[in-house]
Amino acid sequence: MKTLNLALIGFGAVGRGFVDLLQARHAYLETQHNLRLNLIGVATARRGSLFRLDGLTLDALSQAAESGHLNNYPTQPRLIRGLEPLTMLTRPGVDVVIEITPTTYENNAEPAMGHIRAALAAGKHVITANKGPIALAYPDLMAQAAHRDVFLGFEGTVMGGTPVLRLARKGLAGCHISELRGIVNGTTNFILTEMESGKPYADALREAQARGYAEADPTNDVEGFDAAGKLIILAHIIFGKALSMADIDREGITKLTPEDIQSAQANGERWKLIARAALSADGQLSASVRPTRLPLSDPLAGVGGGVNAITYQTDLIGAVTLTGAGAGGKATAYALLSDLIELAEWL
Ligand code: HSE
Repeated sequence: MKTLNLALIGFGAVGRGFVDLLQARHAYLETQHNLRLNLIGVATARRGSLFRLDGLTLDALSQAAESGHLNNYPTQPRLIRGLEPLTMLTRPGVDVVIEITPTTYENNAEPAMGHIRAALAAGKHVITANKGPIALAYPDLMAQAAHRDVFLGFEGTVMGGTPVLRLARKGLAGCHISELRGIVNGTTNFILTEMESGKPYADALREAQARGYAEADPTNDVEGFDAAGKLIILAHIIFGKALSMADIDREGITKLTPEDIQSAQANGERWKLIARAALSADGQLSASVRPTRLPLSDPLAGVGGGVNAITYQTDLIGAVTLTGAGAGGKATAYALLSDLIELAEWL
């Protein structure tokens, strides 16, 4: 049996979903993957932190999370409270650091960038669903991981738990992908879908926030930064090209009016926020995120609500479209689990 000791940095909807998943899949992981996942630490910036080498009790952790502060976790032998994230993640005994603090692209994606760099430097494996550091510093972080011979997993950064990066890296190995087009932001797709049935923009955004789809600052969703960040990650993985935000022709959904939505509907079309990257014949990559009117015959037009989808254009098998949950605590928690299973195989 392989045992991995995990420390979570950040404990929002994804972290809580992950704890539920650890409980639900505990027996399955042991029998099917010979893998025991032992959660030994949880660190947050403002809601306390817990560290216990013997393992935290998941039920009690969920209850403390529900109460709003980890101080409400019961006292146990050898329990340490109050460690700062940077102190916890470098502690001996931690095998894998799971970085799930809120994404930001500003201030060099700190504090997440610092957490990931410190963990890699300390020789810890890192798994993250945090888009900022991967979008801003993918080549550098991969080099740092390779240098320390540790694993860096980030499946959850694009389309949450739906394995769209793994599909490109593994399932389509040997194919040449010349273009990708996708709906990679659940919040805006949810808003556009709700507006089609007459809901005002502000109400739809509020509901997307209540469902846990939106970023801490939803400007990142509605102005297309989140989709652009994901496109940067996809460009690295699929095309081996480094893009910055400034390279992406970006427009969000905030200028779309109810009249625009109705006019598309009247013409048998739908507005979608489409992220697209395509290679030209001479190897140049163009990339955009923009509202696009799609005919209903387009596979992406039928993708509604918080769901995401990507179509890869390949040379050997034509277009391949993957559709699935792209946001939300439970779906993103699954991405972390899938990376942990890949890490266990890698080890
Ligand atoms: N805010 C993001 C979205 C979360 O709506 O898709 C998942 O990355």
